[in-house]
Amino acid sequence: MDDLRFEGMIYGATVRSPAPRGRIKAVRFAEGIRWHEFTIVQACDIPGTNCIALILDDQPCLADSVVNHPEEPVVLLAHPDRYLLEEARRAVEIDIEPLPAVLSIDASLRGDVVVWGKDNVFKEYRVEKGNVDSVWARADCVVQGEYDTGAQEQLYIEPNGMIGIASPERGVTVWGSMQCPYYVHKALKTVFGLADEQVRVIQTETGGGFGGKEEYPSMIAAHAALLAWKSGRPVKIVYDRAEDMTATTKRHPSRTRHRTAVSKDGKLLAMEIDFVIDGGAYATLSPVVLSRGTIHAAGPYYCPNVRITSWAVATNTPPHGAFRGFGAPQSIFALERHFDRVAAVLGLAPDEFRRRNFICPGETTATGQVVRDDADMATVLDRALHESDYHAKKARFARQNPGSNIKRGIGLASFFHGAGFTGCGERYLASVVGVEATSDGRVRILTSSTEMGQGTNTVLTQIAAQALGIPYEQVDIVQPDTGLVPNSGPTVASRTCMVVGKLVESASLGLKETLTNAGLLNDGYSAGEFAEACSAYIARHGPLCSYSQYEPPPGIYWDDEKSQGDAYGAFAWAVYVAEVSVDRLTYEARVEDFVAVQEVGRVIHPVLATGQIEGGVAQGIGYALYEKVAWENGRMANGQMTNYIIPTSMDVPRIRVIFEERPYAYGPMGAKGIGELPIDGPAPAILNAIENATGVSLVSIPATPETLMHALEGGLCS
Ligand code: MOS
Repeated sequence: MDDLRFEGMIYGATVRSPAPRGRIKAVRFAEGIRWHEFTIVQACDIPGTNCIALILDDQPCLADSVVNHPEEPVVLLAHPDRYLLEEARRAVEIDIEPLPAVLSIDASLRGDVVVWGKDNVFKEYRVEKGNVDSVWARADCVVQGEYDTGAQEQLYIEPNGMIGIASPERGVTVWGSMQCPYYVHKALKTVFGLADEQVRVIQTETGGGFGGKEEYPSMIAAHAALLAWKSGRPVKIVYDRAEDMTATTKRHPSRTRHRTAVSKDGKLLAMEIDFVIDGGAYATLSPVVLSRGTIHAAGPYYCPNVRITSWAVATNTPPHGAFRGFGAPQSIFALERHFDRVAAVLGLAPDEFRRRNFICPGETTATGQVVRDDADMATVLDRALHESDYHAKKARFARQNPGSNIKRGIGLASFFHGAGFTGCGERYLASVVGVEATSDGRVRILTSSTEMGQGTNTVLTQIAAQALGIPYEQVDIVQPDTGLVPNSGPTVASRTCMVVGKLVESASLGLKETLTNAGLLNDGYSAGEFAEACSAYIARHGPLCSYSQYEPPPGIYWDDEKSQGDAYGAFAWAVYVAEVSVDRLTYEARVEDFVAVQEVGRVIHPVLATGQIEGGVAQGIGYALYEKVAWENGRMANGQMTNYIIPTSMDVPRIRVIFEERPYAYGPMGAKGIGELPIDGPAPAILNAIENATGVSLVSIPATPETLMHALEGGLCS
């Protein structure tokens, strides 16, 4: 993005709140800066509504009278010289009268200090199945546990950046790094009070997103465009790494409490789950992150009685947001750690306890969704146990660990991940994809789905080429530009291949049918004959374009009020096995081997699919062992790659990726979603392995050497 330049372009910077919460008393521009050279934008300069439109529309584009988190944008500056701009940014002083801040989930739930709405609660869900209360007294065994997960930074390769050109006459156009052009489009319309066609959003080459470019790019786009609107020049804002890490979204920290009733023979009788996520200062995407986390909280198991209660609560940190997995890694971490505890209480092996409770086709999930996938978790588990040599290794480690300073262990997690938006989400999105042919027989795919390194362009091209029976090289993807492509929804939620890919497939088949019905195409055509048919059609009838709009698979029903029904069109299913070593002298845990077995429908592109799994597992290893956000008064204190540690290639073992393929009838070429699944399993598998290695049961991540030292020295060490 930063390579892109426009004639007369200047640079923008953001002056941010130094405090977690307070009233803005004054904004002072210190002496020694030639302020008249600068474009200065504050809340009063916003032509439309001071709000980043998303779900609850509670987040201002620029803080006005109050600030609710550190690093909240208050003033924008622009200048042709990047260095003077930085000096000026430091010379703006925001004078804040502090108000009491809420800085933890517990403080937010206590509600002594209310920082959002009536009670600090952005959203609450309750999922009820059967009657849990009738079970506790008659259960053979009830096991409780509490589990915590920390924030995690997406750390895409390319930091956020946007360029805006804007004026009352020409409207607003922005270019930038993003996942969701139409989210940015919606936000800009609100900030500027403009109509659809007066706002244009163009995605430039994007260096990774992982959810981190789902909502925050709307903020940066609005800022760049506001500076452009006032200055009359193109304005570029590119965050440096430190600003990107401290000011933008991260994964929601969470706390989960489990109470589980089981019979002596290891059958689940009741599960009660309380799940809380820390949303930060504004609602942003928390309601939907919470719904995904809630629905995944009971996992791929059959239990007749389930109650899940969940809350997204407000604190005075920057809003937490989308990150690959979107709530599921948090609740699945808790469940899969807890199930090792339940298994231990029952005296069952972790794999055996899970095997006795896997959900089978025809049975219902916690939301009452009847599993119609050809899911076979027992087979996935068998394959994972076999490939990892689980039982033999476990026995060997038990023999070898005493007398060694390096303790080895093996652990597993079994889980599922729903693809596409939750509940009615896809129905509301009503995504549209276009496929257009030119008279020389080239085909262009029109979609707002973005490529950010994960393979959107390759996979969608493949699907179109296959559906049309033409070579891959004959298909192009139009750059996501709201002026050119229809709204096929955001590039999130493991939906691109499965949901948008299906629309590409059906639009392509529609185009082929148009040519066939026009009598221009016969079976078994060559690429040349296809081109001739396109040319003849366009000469006679004009443009050749086919659109397809999302329709839910038959029999899909969701009740939003009760959180009941078919939460997702399809789930991907997986069992991951981690082998770890724990050094009793340095307290370092290392992942030594990793086996990832998953059922994701048909694999369309084996190299890209494997890459998705490997990348997700690597991020999951970081989540489990390394990535710790140090909070100081609501602000990330370690917003640098030197002190926010992620795994390097030296810390990631060989990841053995295995696909079980059961084609899904409503996915393109049989494919299901895959992007988020692989980050759900690693953390619990790794902590289960650490427990197997050391006997110490850790209930929070990341399990840094400091955490391990406290646990090993204070707890049960062998
Ligand atoms: Mo995502 S975390 O649904 O971009």
